[in-house]
Amino acid sequence: MKTVIPSVFAILAIFATFTIEANEPENSATGGTIADKIKTCAACHGENGDQPLVAEYPILANQYPSYLANALRQYRDGQRTNPIMAMQMDLLKPSDADIEALAEYFGSKSSKLHNLADD
Ligand code: HEC
Repeated sequence: MKTVIPSVFAILAIFATFTIEANEPENSATGGTIADKIKTCAACHGENGDQPLVAEYPILANQYPSYLANALRQYRDGQRTNPIMAMQMDLLKPSDADIEALAEYFGSKSSKLHNLADD
């Protein structure tokens, strides 16, 4: 009995940790905050969307947010069929609000892309 009680506390402590994590605000049905999603994108496009992993990957920073959001909706809804981006959409299942937030985030960063809105 002496050893059982500490173990029960240990188990309760583990459950308490999970409960706290589960209370973190989430932005889609699959879980994960916008910050989590941005981290995923950053792996290929760079933290600010301006440092693609390889030269063929597009720069997102300073692109029009409406353009980025449209592209993301098209990947998510299957009108654009690039397998790499389609996989991201399957994993993250971004809502329309997530897409708007991602597009705003990357579009608001500066890069060498010339945006006519800057003129
Ligand atoms: C595993 C690498 C990878 C990850 C992770 C990734 N992307 Fe991409 N992304 C690509 C590639 C490669 C393309 C080019 C696809 C094509 O040619 O259609 C692309 C294209 C795009 C485009 C279209 C750009 C344009 O100029 O048309 C947008 C927008 C985009 N990604 C946003 C995101 C966002 C937002 C995330 C995170 C939710 C993300 N990507 C995660 C590799 C990635």
